[in-house]
Amino acid sequence: MKILAIESSCDETACAVVEDGVKELVSVVASSKDFHEKTGGVVPEVASRKQLEFIFPVLERTIEDYCEKTGCSGKEQAIASIDALAVTVGPGLIGSLVVGVTAAKTLSMAWKKPLIPVNHLVGHIYANFTGNPSGITFPAVCLLVSGGHTDLVLMKGHGDLVYLGGTMDDAAGECFDKVARMMGISRYLGGALLSKKALECKEQGVAKLFPRPMLDQDNYDFSFSGLKTAVKRYLDSGEREVPCTAREFEEAVVDVLTAKTMKAVNNFGVKSLLVGGGVSANSRLRKSLKKETEKAGVSLFIPEPRLCTDNAVYIASAAYFNNVTKALNEIKAEPSLNIMGLV
Ligand SMILES: Nc1ncnc2c1ncn2[C@@H]1O[C@H](COP(=O)(O)OP(=O)(O)OP(=O)(O)O)[C@@H](O)[C@H]1O
Ligand SMILES: [Mg+2]
Repeated sequence: MKILAIESSCDETACAVVEDGVKELVSVVASSKDFHEKTGGVVPEVASRKQLEFIFPVLERTIEDYCEKTGCSGKEQAIASIDALAVTVGPGLIGSLVVGVTAAKTLSMAWKKPLIPVNHLVGHIYANFTGNPSGITFPAVCLLVSGGHTDLVLMKGHGDLVYLGGTMDDAAGECFDKVARMMGISRYLGGALLSKKALECKEQGVAKLFPRPMLDQDNYDFSFSGLKTAVKRYLDSGEREVPCTAREFEEAVVDVLTAKTMKAVNNFGVKSLLVGGGVSANSRLRKSLKKETEKAGVSLFIPEPRLCTDNAVYIASAAYFNNVTKALNEIKAEPSLNIMGLV
């Protein structure tokens, strides 16, 4: 079963073909992030115009690469071998989403293939299913930690998700980005650069200069806006150089994410922890979760860094494990109603 997926929720235009939800055959990602660096944040109108500019070349390249990979004789043969389409339907910037959804709907009608709608956040979790998902046992706790979201979810099985808690204000990724900006490290998407800068700190140990918000509360919620303000006050006082302040900040975020996640893991007695979203590329977070899950005898799954941020591989994977049978049955029953909930 081969699914061609399209992802266009923000500033990445991505397309991928994945076999049986686990085998990545091709993945193409174009990004407009350099344009948003200039303005210090995403301008939605610019992002959607870039989606429009990138969508055709990305689709073309995907089919070409897929053809090369599978040794097909031409585009027609490549298209014929694809069983279904999938597309991100939200959350995201509406102008960006519309480009991907419109492209997917058009291809679905032209190629007469079912189209499966996928939630972007559920997609992030499914980045763990590409490769070898055989070790993942349910129920599992999922930590989704991205640019726009920080959520803890109990996954009882495919399509059976229970929301446990999430951020009351800023997402962890957003907090990384805003602090990186305050420190003059990056004007846009500064998480990875801040983390790199923190490695330059030569001081031994962590002074715990910043708060660990909501750790004293018996819930699975987070709050990062106060932490961001605490860093700003500290920087404004001009007391310390950037690398060690960055490390102190990063440690505070990692401590909170690790503690709340392990609380959920222990309270629900799960044997698997799945992590997804851009911030899961953070090496300090990966190390901390590895240490704690090893202690607890829990299997930890974190995607390789390139699959942590937005791409279409995990969209195809989520589609396969959730709605593919329903979509195939629907198109068999009524070929003109082949766009699940999207018509
Ligand atoms: N190594 C890293 N350390 C910390 N943060 C990181 C790292 N790498 C990426 N990030 C952060 O990940 C975020 C981007 O992740 P992602 O692409 O999943 O978010 P998004 O798609 O914009 O948001 P959402 O998925 O919530 O819609 C940014 O905030 C970025 O700074
Ligand atoms: Mg994302």
